[in-house]
Amino acid sequence: MKEINVAVTGGAGQIAYSLLPRLISGETFGSDTRVNLRLIEIPQVVEKLEGTIMELIDCGFDQTGILTATSDIREGVKDADWVLLVGSIPRGIVIDGKKIEERSDLLKINGGIFTDQGKAIGELAKQNAKILVVGNPANTNALIGMNSANNSSQQWFAMTALDANRAKAQLAEKASVDISSLKNMIIWGNHSPTMYPDPYNATINGKSAAEVIDDNAWLENDYLPLVQQRGKAVIDARGASSAASAANAAIDTVKAVENYTEPGDCFSAAIASDGSYGVPKGLIFGFPLRTRESGEIEIIQGIELNDFAKSKIKITTEELESEREAVSDLIS
Ligand code: NAD
Ligand code: LMR
Repeated sequence: MKEINVAVTGGAGQIAYSLLPRLISGETFGSDTRVNLRLIEIPQVVEKLEGTIMELIDCGFDQTGILTATSDIREGVKDADWVLLVGSIPRGIVIDGKKIEERSDLLKINGGIFTDQGKAIGELAKQNAKILVVGNPANTNALIGMNSANNSSQQWFAMTALDANRAKAQLAEKASVDISSLKNMIIWGNHSPTMYPDPYNATINGKSAAEVIDDNAWLENDYLPLVQQRGKAVIDARGASSAASAANAAIDTVKAVENYTEPGDCFSAAIASDGSYGVPKGLIFGFPLRTRESGEIEIIQGIELNDFAKSKIKITTEELESEREAVSDLIS
């Protein structure tokens, strides 16, 4: 069997509880890969991970490698092939008497975590390590982490796959088709209410989803806000931020990065802009991505954008620029 090292921060949190078994079951990295899992938590919580490890052992998967728990990020990410940065504070909780309502509130609380973590990853994780940031505000946390890592051979992503799954599910329901008939679902920009889930370039059985649905008023006035605000709707309904669907999206992202992307399809994640589609260089921006047969990740070029799309992409770009400005002291 092959062997890989996977580090997960926030190992005792609710997303991790759904995520961890699926990382060591053979589902994500294949039945021929043994996964050594390093769970990373803050010192106050790290002891609880012993219970999590007991449960992971009790799952009895053949692909389970060495399971360890630590509160030392440097120990956790050493020689890691993948690092899943889930650990951070979610919206909906109360801190110092104030309810954390908006992702912008999280910027100051969570941003600081990613400087030390990024530095450790840049120095100690493998040179070809892949890093997926799930903790919010995911794009700007990834920006901070990537800058602190300062290692251009590693590849950083921020998660927008949950948005893509939500966006597909709503289009499939409206068009009364199976979700599997939907392809090329692009989430442009930020994992926030300014994201642009693109129904014009998404396809249903090879045809533009917008053409199949043929209801621009619904797409622009109902569908867009529904997808953009879905995270808040789940928090309001559940009393806690989405967890099973977030873990599922993290697994989807890892699989998409590890496997070739079929022509006519893409996967959604945010990566550092190279200037494609006029997005300022360096912003961690949601793009249509493809994994080539060589394993290289590239931004798919030549996607057509109508005036509506351009106006939405402008808004989410401006938001990410203002987030970058707000954390300028954390990105040297
Ligand atoms: P949670 O509160 O249940 O768990 C977070 C865990 O992170 C806690 O156990 C906490 O102790 C740990 N943690 C905090 N700081 C840490 C650090 N410095 N190092 C290691 N661990 C640390 O939260 P959750 O529901 O699992 O959500 C985690 C994050 O994911 C939140 O920021 C949430 O907003 C975000 N999220 C993102 C998406 C997305 O689509 N990108 C979707 C859902 C949730
Ligand atoms: C989500 O989209 O469900 C998460 O990012 C949680 C949130 O705060 O919206």
